[in-house]
Amino acid sequence: MDIARIRACFPALDLGVAHFDGPGGSQVPRQVADAVAAAMTAGLGNRGTTTEAEARTERVVAEARAAAGDLLGTDARGVVFGRSMTQLTFDMARTLSRSWGPGDEVVVTRLDHDANIRPWVVAAERAGATVRWLDFDPATGELDDVAPLLTDRTRLVAVTAASNLLGTRPDVRRLAALAREAGALSYVDAVHLAPHAPVDRSELGADLLACSPYKFFGPHLGVLAGDPAFLETLHPDKLLPSTDVVPERFELGTLPHELLAGVTAAVDFMAGLEPGQGTRRERLVRSMAAAEQHEDDLLAHLVDGLREIDVVTLHGAPAHRTPTVLFTLAGHAPVDVARHLASEGVNAPAGHFYAIEASRHAGLGDTGGVRAGLAAYTTVEDVDRLVAAVAGLVRA
Ligand SMILES: Cc1ncc(COP(=O)(O)O)c(C=O)c1O
Repeated sequence: MDIARIRACFPALDLGVAHFDGPGGSQVPRQVADAVAAAMTAGLGNRGTTTEAEARTERVVAEARAAAGDLLGTDARGVVFGRSMTQLTFDMARTLSRSWGPGDEVVVTRLDHDANIRPWVVAAERAGATVRWLDFDPATGELDDVAPLLTDRTRLVAVTAASNLLGTRPDVRRLAALAREAGALSYVDAVHLAPHAPVDRSELGADLLACSPYKFFGPHLGVLAGDPAFLETLHPDKLLPSTDVVPERFELGTLPHELLAGVTAAVDFMAGLEPGQGTRRERLVRSMAAAEQHEDDLLAHLVDGLREIDVVTLHGAPAHRTPTVLFTLAGHAPVDVARHLASEGVNAPAGHFYAIEASRHAGLGDTGGVRAGLAAYTTVEDVDRLVAAVAGLVRA
C-alpha cells in the first residue's frame, strides 16, 4: 500500500503524533469530513418524495445502507443505523429477550467488550434466563470451545470477531455454525475487526453483526446488520406513527443524515486504500486484504521491538489476531507508561477499554495495560518511535 498517499488524506496526522489509539477511534480522512459538511449544507430535509431536499435525504440514507452492506458482505436492506454499537445491542437484546424465559440460556464470552456482554446479561436476568460464560486461556487469549456450553435451550451466542484488548480473532464461522445447529442465534461484534480485515456476514453465518464506523475512518455511529427476512420476524419497541418497514423499524427517531454521508465516504475511502478496478465490494476486499498485510508486517516489527525490552510483558498470543498489542512494564503503572508515551508524541492509551471481563480474566484487574493498535496509516517510523519511547522510560 502507498502509505504516504494514504497519510496525506488525514489532516490530523500533520500534527506529528504517532497514533496507536485507533482501536478507540481512528483518525478521519478529509474526504469523510468533507462529505459530512457537504451533506449539512446541501439542502436536506426529512426523508420523503415531495421536495428535492427530501429526495436528497432519501439518497443519503440509501447510499449509506449500500455502503455498509458492501463493507460487511450483507444485504443493504438489513442494515440498521444507530447512535452506537452499544445502543443497538441494548435495543436488540430488549427485542430478542421478549421471547426468553426461565430455562432458556444465552452464551457470552469473557473475551468480549462489555457492549457485547452486559446487554445480554441484563436482558437474560430480566427474562429469568441463564447466562453461560465462555472463557478464554489467559496465556494465549484463545477462546475455549463453545460446544460444551450449547444445549437445546441456548437462544443466543454473543461473540466478538476480534478482541479490542488482546486482538484475538476467534473462529466466528465455527461458533455461528454451532450456534445455529443448537437452534440459537449468533450476535457477532465486528467493531474491532472491521477496520483491519474484510468482513463477510453472510459467509460467517452470523445472524446479526455489529460495527462502529468511527473505528474505520468514519463518524460516530453504530451499524447492525442482519438478513432482512430475519429482521422482519422481530418487533422492537417503536412509536405509533413511525414506519414498521425493515430496517427503519429498528431505527428510533430521525437518523443523523450528515453522519450517514460520512459513512458512505469512509467506506469509499477504505475501498480505495489499494487502487484498482471492480465493484466496491471487490475493491473493499482487495483493499482490506492489503491493509491487513501492511498491519501484520508492522505488528511483527512492533512485537519484535517490544520483546527486546526485558521488563515488557506482552499479554495474549493468539494465533489469529488483529494488529493490537496489550503490554505492561514491570515497575510502571500502565497509566504512567501511557503518560510518558504521550509526552513523547506517541498516543497509546492505558486501561481495560471496556473489555473489563477480559482484563480481569487475563490477570490485569481493572487497571488493564497499555494498548498499541496499528492502523492502515501507521508507519514503521511510528512503531520505532513507540518502541524507543518505551525503552527510554525503562532506561530513565
Ligand atoms: C470491540 C468493541 N465492541 C464494541 C464497542 C462499542 O462500540 P460503540 O462505541 O459504538 O458502542 C467497542 C468500542 O470501543 C469495541 O472496541
